[in-house]
Amino acid sequence: MTLLQIEDLKVHFPVRTGRFGGGKGTVRAVDGVSLSIDARETLALVGESGCGKSTLGNAVLGLAPVTAGTIQFDGQDLGTLSTAARKRLWRDMQVVFQDPVSALNPRRSIASSIAEPLIIHGWSGSIPDRVTELMELVGLNADQRTRRPQALSGGQRQRVVIARALALNPRLIICDEPVSALDVSIQSQILNLLMRLQAELDLSYLFISHDLSVVRHIADRVAVMYLGTVVEDGPASAVFSDPVHPYTQALMSAIPLPDPSRRDRGDRVLLQGDLPSPLDPPSGCPFRTRCPLAEPRCAETRPALTPQGPGHRAACLVQDRNPGGPPA
Ligand SMILES: Nc1ncnc2c1ncn2[C@@H]1O[C@H](COP(=O)(O)OP(=O)(O)O)[C@@H](O)[C@H]1O
Ligand code: SF4
Ligand SMILES: [Mg+2]
Repeated sequence: MTLLQIEDLKVHFPVRTGRFGGGKGTVRAVDGVSLSIDARETLALVGESGCGKSTLGNAVLGLAPVTAGTIQFDGQDLGTLSTAARKRLWRDMQVVFQDPVSALNPRRSIASSIAEPLIIHGWSGSIPDRVTELMELVGLNADQRTRRPQALSGGQRQRVVIARALALNPRLIICDEPVSALDVSIQSQILNLLMRLQAELDLSYLFISHDLSVVRHIADRVAVMYLGTVVEDGPASAVFSDPVHPYTQALMSAIPLPDPSRRDRGDRVLLQGDLPSPLDPPSGCPFRTRCPLAEPRCAETRPALTPQGPGHRAACLVQDRNPGGPPA
């Protein structure tokens, strides 16, 4: 069952440009993205910093303006619902951001932070019991309830944030770089926690990360973003083992390999140059200014996502395995 369905979503920000701010421009942060997440599924949204991942997540949560396109949650179009109905749906979606320090009020005990959404939304049962239950669910000792966030480690603080996100029994959690601020040794503990919670509570995740080695553990499907568009998506196994788009291939070859004998791979594709400005994206294929395979035609035509294998799509004129086939 599809829980979240996004169709041709655009989020454009009007900005002032030029040295004195006299010009006007448009940042095309998200520029025509379609994706869906099933119940109990993890979709990883990956790509370099600035490609529009957080803006997409924020648009789903109502924290960034939707310029065009639709967002449906559980079959209901967020854009056409009444404000009250939309607020009810947003209760089923929660977010875990990168930085648990700024997410928690330093003056509140962790029990009081976890209780906050329960109080706001009028939890019908015992709030202290629910807080204890949530703390145990995320692997926190209930003895720690009176502690302040400063007294906890980074990993424990992120557990508090996750407990609070779970308070109202959400169905979708948007995890925006949830382990990027944590030590590598702690990262896998939090990833394992998220996977256990998914199985126990039937959660869906939109898991945003610039770090593919993190995504590999947790994703069922992967969508690769570049300059506001999805350039490849598909089952994680296909995207990791058999990437089609030159950008995905470059990201994959940059993942550090644990096995030193394989570190010298000949297939390493280095990403050259910086991400172009989303204020002034290249014509044709957005990746062409950094693509090792670019041809003159790549400047003329913007490639569409086309089928490359079961559930696997990519947007590249040159690498297309099914040229002339129907668009995805
Ligand atoms: N409120 C805003 N106003 C103008 N530009 C923005 C705003 N929010 C994000 N952007 C721009 O949109 C682009 C995508 O940003 P973001 O979604 O944060 O990327 P990511 O999460 O992939 O790092 C960036 O160029 C960023 O500067
Ligand atoms: S369409 Fe051309 S520029 Fe774009 S990724 Fe494919 S080969 Fe590279
Ligand atoms: Mg971000």
